[in-house]
Amino acid sequence: MHNQTIVLESSDLQEQSLGLRFNLPQLGEHATGFVVRFKSKAYAYVNQCAHMPVELDWNEGDFFTADKTLIICATHGAQYAPETGRCIAGPCKGKQLQSLLVTEENNQVTIFLGSLVNALEKQLPNI
Ligand code: FES
Repeated sequence: MHNQTIVLESSDLQEQSLGLRFNLPQLGEHATGFVVRFKSKAYAYVNQCAHMPVELDWNEGDFFTADKTLIICATHGAQYAPETGRCIAGPCKGKQLQSLLVTEENNQVTIFLGSLVNALEKQLPNI
């Protein structure tokens, strides 16, 4: 059975800086997710572009645009709002990164992998 949470130290997640990657075995052997901090809050997503099924980061953990205001895909430059995961520019404009529930308290960031399963189940009728 897969671990259902990932717990990180809050201090490991710096504001609008490198994101932290983690494995997502629910989605396959090589699937990963990532978490970033933006305007003090932690946001976690599946590390897969909404345009094509490739990871977003070119250099490991490098998810932000040069001005650190948006998440960007290194392959064709799709840009995503960090707070929502919505693609606001690029080839998949209007589409969405898959988000994961994150909480932060007592200097720990907790990512709930089960929230991804629920999101996928909600999508099933559309497949
Ligand atoms: S694969 Fe991400 S923008 Fe094309």
